[in-house]
Amino acid sequence: MKLVSLRLENFRAFEHCELELHSDGLIGVSGPNGAGKSTLLDAINYALFGLGRGSRKRRPERDGMPAGAKCEVKLEFILDDHSCVVVRGPKKARLTVDGEDWLRDGQEELTRRVTELLGVGQLNFGMTFYARQRELQALQEGGKRKLEQLETLLGIDRIRNARTLAHDAETTQEKVVRALATQVPSVADAEAKLRRAEEEAQRLAPSVESAREARDEAAALREKARTALTEARERAEEALALEGKAAVAASELAAATERESMTRESMMAAKAAATELQALEPAAAKAGELRAQDRALELEGQAAAQAAGLREQRHEAQLAAVAVGDALAATADPAPRLAGADGELTEARSELERVTSEMLELSSLQETLRAAAADAAAAVTNGRRALAVHEELARLAGLREAVENRALEIAALEAEAAQLVAHVTEESEHYEHVKRDGRNATCPRCKAPYGDRYETIVEEFEESLAGFSKRQREIADELERLRKARKGDAAKLERLASAEAERKALGEVTTDIAALDAAAAGAEEARGQHVKDSERLTKRRGDLTETIAALDRELSGLRQELATREQLAAHQREAERGLELFEKQLTELSPNGYDADAHEAVRRALARATSAETHCAELRPQVAQIELLETRLAREEQLSAAARTAHEDLAPAAAKRAADKAAPEEAETAYDVTVLAHAQADEALHDAEQQAIAESNAVAQARAELEAAQRLKGQLDTEREELSMRRVVKTVLDNYRTAVQQEAVPSLEQETAEFLRRTTRGRYSDVQISADGELQINDMGTPYELERFSGGEQDLANLCMRIALSKVLARRSGMDARFIILDEVFGSQDADRRRALLEALRELDQEFGQVLIVSHFDDFMEHCGLQITVKSDNGRSVAELATA
Ligand SMILES: Nc1ncnc2c1ncn2[C@@H]1O[C@H](COP(=O)(O)OP(=O)(O)OP(=O)(O)O)[C@@H](O)[C@H]1O
Ligand SMILES: [Mg+2]
Repeated sequence: MKLVSLRLENFRAFEHCELELHSDGLIGVSGPNGAGKSTLLDAINYALFGLGRGSRKRRPERDGMPAGAKCEVKLEFILDDHSCVVVRGPKKARLTVDGEDWLRDGQEELTRRVTELLGVGQLNFGMTFYARQRELQALQEGGKRKLEQLETLLGIDRIRNARTLAHDAETTQEKVVRALATQVPSVADAEAKLRRAEEEAQRLAPSVESAREARDEAAALREKARTALTEARERAEEALALEGKAAVAASELAAATERESMTRESMMAAKAAATELQALEPAAAKAGELRAQDRALELEGQAAAQAAGLREQRHEAQLAAVAVGDALAATADPAPRLAGADGELTEARSELERVTSEMLELSSLQETLRAAAADAAAAVTNGRRALAVHEELARLAGLREAVENRALEIAALEAEAAQLVAHVTEESEHYEHVKRDGRNATCPRCKAPYGDRYETIVEEFEESLAGFSKRQREIADELERLRKARKGDAAKLERLASAEAERKALGEVTTDIAALDAAAAGAEEARGQHVKDSERLTKRRGDLTETIAALDRELSGLRQELATREQLAAHQREAERGLELFEKQLTELSPNGYDADAHEAVRRALARATSAETHCAELRPQVAQIELLETRLAREEQLSAAARTAHEDLAPAAAKRAADKAAPEEAETAYDVTVLAHAQADEALHDAEQQAIAESNAVAQARAELEAAQRLKGQLDTEREELSMRRVVKTVLDNYRTAVQQEAVPSLEQETAEFLRRTTRGRYSDVQISADGELQINDMGTPYELERFSGGEQDLANLCMRIALSKVLARRSGMDARFIILDEVFGSQDADRRRALLEALRELDQEFGQVLIVSHFDDFMEHCGLQITVKSDNGRSVAELATA
């Protein structure tokens, strides 16, 4: 198989991409992390096998692609000289071979046809042609993970998994068989138990039959007694009914007789009332006339009583008028005193106003005087402070100049000291040279040797150095003195600055303290005088306030008095008016000669006539009923006669049937005896039946136990068979796994050794793969663990093993493995190791026609015939193609 071209439309991060891959040798794919490199390889996998198992379960559509846009991958490749084209998308599936349509639709069908065409499914494709990202990393990790990875690639893991499942199944089955074996009971014991139960049940059957016969007999006797009882009850009911009818006839007769006598009495009373009415009517006829007389006399009596009342009232009013006049005469008029107190009050109020306004004036004057006293006191304080500041400034005059001079002196001394150090260094070096070279020493200026002048020159040097040293000590002493003095300067300068600032803040202030003190004392004295005035006015105002309050109280008393007098005068006027009114009313009510005794006689006669009138009214309805009562009496006499006849018929018949009422009691006693006998017989039958049922249950249970024992035994036999089957499967899988390993591992070792020999140019040519999947390399005839070799050699060996695996697996599946994809196999190798690996990979083009190498490094690209650079542009992947 050889890749020819790849085209992506809206596949994952790619919007559009077209790559011509028709090239042999190395094809490099590079770009930064997340650029879209692995997506290109995923696209090849997707085109061939769709989103199946083993593929990344990520959706193919580009996130955010426009609605309605198509998503698909088109892959063109050559297989056994046939040109094949696969186009796949979520809504598309197409396969063309040599320009002929093999398939136009159906995702799963396309996968099936491609699998048939290539001879490998997606899983084997992944194991052979496509070394995924991070797969090699797993091989490099070693240990258990390496063995698992190797077994996955060789397909042994599936056998291992199946074998683990078979082992689990066997263990489970063993547990089942063990558990079942302890549960299965003895079939022979169950059979014997059943036989015993059946015999006992047969023995009990006759006694149940005789108990049932006795119970049926008792039931027949009970039925007979029940019938006799029913008949006796019917007879008793009939006797009772007859007795009831006789009693009803007797009570009806009594009622009819009573009604008849009552009606007769009513009629006699009505006749007596008619006689009385006749006698009373003339007296009742006078009542109207007497009533008119009584009303006239009543009015006359009322007028006489009213005149007597008025006379009484007039007398009382006369007494009240006299009392009011007396009260008015007893008190003096308060009006003149009221006018005097009012005048006094007005005067006191106007004086209070004057005093208050004077106090207000004084209080504002006092504020001014207080401020003047405070100003004078402040002027004294400021004057004293200004005097102190003047003195401090006088003391510190010339300080700044002294400080500056000191700083200049220090700087000059420090410069001289530095110069001296340079001189001493230069002279010392020179002296050292002269001492070292002796008489051969030369003058640094004229370069002539000192020769005989050597000793003199040395002495001069020593003298000069001693002089320098003395001067250095003097300078150091002087500097120390000056620096000590400088330490106090800062504080003094600060004091000077603060005194200057204070003087500025105080401004122009007089310092004549005596004059200031005199001014302050004057201001304080003036203020004291005003305080005294103010106290005097406050006292006067207090007195006035009290006087006003007393006058207010007096005025209020006088006003009260005046109001009382005015009220009395009003009462007097009112009494006079009332007396006039009484006189007028008495004149109007002239005397009428009313006679109270005559009125009393009329009243008594009227009472008698009214009573007769009332009684007549009561008697009239009674008299009116006489006719009706006569008719009713005749009818009731007839009814009484009929009731009497009925009673005379029924009473003897009821007396005759009285004996039948006691018959049910005897019949009931006889019935109770039969019920008891039946219950006893029934209980005996129930006991017999219970025993028989218990026996038949025992039979059923024994039979069920026997069946369960037989069933469990059958189940145990089946489970034992299953266990032996599972053991066979496990053994077969064990053998198969060993066989696959034995078959795969030697060819893998051979292929790995061959690649390693070629990539190391013969340095290593022999490898072994241990039972736990670890690779061992022979160096000079001795096998060593992989860890013994350098990191680069280890990576190379693992890569060789992965490539060898691809080849072995391709061979096993019958494929021509001339195509391989290696995604990020460089791992974390440095540039040197990458280069070495690349050289080794270039050697592979003999084995694999196309080698696709994917890496986020780009320094390997120059060694590739075809170079694909992938980058991400605003979240969209873009691939560019170049040829070397
Ligand atoms: N359906 C999608 N639509 C758009 N972008 C997607 C979709 N699926 C995955 N991606 C993005 O595509 C980008 C490329 O992923 P890919 O695995 O190809 O990167 P890479 O170049 O192999 O990176 P690395 O070097 O890290 O392996 C990722 O950033 C991923 O988030
Ligand atoms: Mg990747």
